[in-house]
Amino acid sequence: MRQPLVVGNWKMNGSRQVNQTLLTEILAGMDSVTRCQVGVCPPFVYLAQTQAQLADSRIAWGAQNVSPHAAGAYTGEIAVNMLQDFGCTYVIVGHSERRSLYGDTDALVAEKFAAVQAGGMIPILCVGETDAEREAGHTEQVVQRQLSAVLTSQGIASIANCVIAYEPVWAIGTGKTATPEQAQAVHAFIRGLLAAEDSAIAEKVQILYGGSVKGSNATELFAMSDIDGGLIGGAALKAEEFLTICRAPE
Ligand code: 13P
Repeated sequence: MRQPLVVGNWKMNGSRQVNQTLLTEILAGMDSVTRCQVGVCPPFVYLAQTQAQLADSRIAWGAQNVSPHAAGAYTGEIAVNMLQDFGCTYVIVGHSERRSLYGDTDALVAEKFAAVQAGGMIPILCVGETDAEREAGHTEQVVQRQLSAVLTSQGIASIANCVIAYEPVWAIGTGKTATPEQAQAVHAFIRGLLAAEDSAIAEKVQILYGGSVKGSNATELFAMSDIDGGLIGGAALKAEEFLTICRAPE
């Protein structure tokens, strides 16, 4: 049985004061989170603060992006070893905001995925279609293309040590959530693609849903057989709301 996982993607939000309060409140509520693994991904500059505050807790932390390069003249970039240095467990790669705003291609996402694994951390690989792609009936094709970029370059074995997040772009930050059935259908499709290559790995990998998950809809989403938790944006910035989501799979 797969353990549920809920990860907060803080995106470009927070301040030292705000983070301190948010993490304190989340830590205070963790006693009632019994089954779910929990993680938070703050902006890079707050990783040191996050590490200091979460060091002795059950909450893991990670980054929202990484350079595929090891070191050198890449102004403004952050390397894998720097994230290791701050105790990161997870690194999000291929978030739709990176794909659409910063030109992260399938090939670049695969390079980042490989770099994260080579550095001993767990990539959270985001896939998902836009509104137009769904309307055109291309959801499966898009998700398959995004997944294949990693599968063909890294092989099915690499999936044994990653997390996949299905995040339909039309549901991100819009308040529009995929219905549990819509999300389950895509999750099952993803697991099926992986199972065609290795059924044991497919059975084991955690596939998270992301896109307007809230305390009020988490339980019905996480109840679906192929939804193993969530990647949470806006609702991860409010401690009580985030904790409610973390308790949803109990
Ligand atoms: P929201 O939960 O704000 O829709 O964001 C989802 C997301 O992009 C998480 O990575």
